Amino acid sequence: MDSQWVTIIEPFRIHSVEPIAMTTLEEREQELLRAGYNLFNVPGPRVLVDLLTDSGTGAMSSEQWAGLQRGDESYAGSASWFRFREAVRDLFPFQHVIPTHQGRAAEKILFSALGGPGRTIPNNTHFDTTRANVEFTGAEALDLPVPEGLVPSSRHPFKGNMDVDALRRVLAERDVPIVFVTLTNNSGGGQPVSMENLRAVREACGDVPLFLDACRFAENAWFVKLREPGYEDTPVPDIVREMAALADGMTMSAKKDPLGNIGGWLALNDDALAEQCRNLLILTEGFPTYGGMAGRDMDAIAQGLREAVDEDYLRYRIRSTEYLGEALDRAGIPVVLPVGGHAVYIDARALLPQIPPLEYPGQALAVALYREGGIRGSEIGTVMFGRRADGSEQPAPMELLRLAIPRRTYTQSHVDYVIEVCGHVARGAEAIRGLRMVEEPPALRHFTARFEPL
Ligand SMILES: Cc1ncc(COP(=O)(O)O)c(C=O)c1O
Repeated sequence: MDSQWVTIIEPFRIHSVEPIAMTTLEEREQELLRAGYNLFNVPGPRVLVDLLTDSGTGAMSSEQWAGLQRGDESYAGSASWFRFREAVRDLFPFQHVIPTHQGRAAEKILFSALGGPGRTIPNNTHFDTTRANVEFTGAEALDLPVPEGLVPSSRHPFKGNMDVDALRRVLAERDVPIVFVTLTNNSGGGQPVSMENLRAVREACGDVPLFLDACRFAENAWFVKLREPGYEDTPVPDIVREMAALADGMTMSAKKDPLGNIGGWLALNDDALAEQCRNLLILTEGFPTYGGMAGRDMDAIAQGLREAVDEDYLRYRIRSTEYLGEALDRAGIPVVLPVGGHAVYIDARALLPQIPPLEYPGQALAVALYREGGIRGSEIGTVMFGRRADGSEQPAPMELLRLAIPRRTYTQSHVDYVIEVCGHVARGAEAIRGLRMVEEPPALRHFTARFEPL
């Protein structure tokens, strides 16, 4: 795009639309009651602007829809598989690509092979499914973010970085079968990891394999290009390849940056480990050339991977998230700064100081935004992370409400509406009360727990 224009436009026009049903405040109060104040229990058609997640919720391009038509559904060795594998390897040149139905299936397979009691798996910050899959094997999931990553108002450009000194200590003292780095750091505010940090982590790992949880690799690469000296002129695909070259493998949810509605993969170089993982894949997902996906999904993802690293798209993507974050910041609403790639995170602990962590300020804020304006966000705080492996309940390091932006789905006026509703809710923040959890499943409790207002 010519650089003299300040307005960054959506680099696409709309080709097919999906109606949004309007709801009233009274209808939304009824929905909340039915849902046990858990927005995961609210039906999608009862949501006006759905910012629950950026996972699988993006709009596909016309070329991706064309890819669905090209999909080859041969059980073994379909043409879609070869196109998918080539597109993956073009950016992530690992020896083995193991297709799965989504990211957590790749995690489950990998940690079944490498986890187990007495082991520790460090990460800058584990996402919920990653943590749950590590802990399910009896291993410890250890978060090692840099200290700035835990301070919502700190303006560090790479708050997703891993604390390398802490990693060295853990590697020296514990049984560590694998180290993970999550790009970008979803639980920590969608914050990027610098190439410099990734290099230092690589060096600290020595012979211990380093894997990337690379769901938002393109957004991370764009931040490297914008913020890390020396990368201004490097094409995004080359930045991605450089990140991949520092690692021994990766897990991927293709529902994020690869612009799929479903899908994922595990990729790695180690032949013996790959063999072990493929055997597990056949047990739970499918044959190694489709894993958990239909041929058409693999074609849509192959095309999505090419679009994900397009710089006009990334400029629009990151700027539109920033637009929401900056407007909330200007309105005096505490948000994690700098604004992350795929989401804006409101600091519910700062906005609702009257609500103690064990009365779930992030969840209370999520409920208020839905009640007032039909906006659905997601708590990333004590509801998500408060139940520890030893059974105790502890406050999470941060109490955030994440407003995740589906890719290519909402327009600026939807976002302006979100800004208006957030401003209204923040002005009435003092009156918001906490919640009590009245039903809790044994794992990943945030998905199905039920609450009552206090
Ligand atoms: C950083 C990260 N890792 C892993 C996953 C799991 O991916 P999936 O939802 O496809 O299982 C997610 C999903 O939100 C994520 O954000």
